[in-house]
Amino acid sequence: MVLDQKNFTKYLNRHEIDVAVKGVAEKLNRDYEGKKVVLVCVLKGAYVFCADLMRQLTIDVDVEFVRLSSYGRALRSSGTVTILKDINADIRDKHVLIVEEIIDSGRTLRFLFDRLKASNPASVEIVTLLDKKAKRVTDVPVKYVGREIEDQFLVGYGLDLEEKSRNLADIYYLKYPN
Ligand code: IMP
Ligand code: MG
Repeated sequence: MVLDQKNFTKYLNRHEIDVAVKGVAEKLNRDYEGKKVVLVCVLKGAYVFCADLMRQLTIDVDVEFVRLSSYGRALRSSGTVTILKDINADIRDKHVLIVEEIIDSGRTLRFLFDRLKASNPASVEIVTLLDKKAKRVTDVPVKYVGREIEDQFLVGYGLDLEEKSRNLADIYYLKYPN
């Protein structure tokens, strides 16, 4: 796939993204009021969303990072998830929020959710900016969703195409040239 920005069509502008981020943050501020929370940001894609989200949170939060691989350089999930970088904190008895930017097949989060659960946290929930619900092949309990989206390959706002375009402030979908 050749990266050609002429084939990018705007899907969500920064204002729409901001509304989605604030909507999720409001729910978290309400549901976790008075609690200490560990955000587990799923690198690389989620770091932009996580940075915006945490600045809308009024609750007490720590942030941890995990890096998983499943897509490699492909547009589609390979189905095999491996840990490239694990969290550093002990999450036993902590309230954990997995922060993801997009869920597709659900395989990545199924793997991470089960792995974090095994450390006996007080709770684990999933927060995602975008959810391609129609693409789900594995059941995964997603409690906080910024926006449900159609099956489109998206770039920008942390989302990449072969590591490029994460820096775009808006989100685009790829229009395949005919
Ligand atoms: P899943 O395991 O199939 O749910 O894949 C989730 C991961 O694939 C996300 O964390 C993203 O990093 C990546 N991904 C899924 N859909 C897209 C997309 O449309 N654009 C860029 N990356 C995506
Ligand atoms: Mg991701």
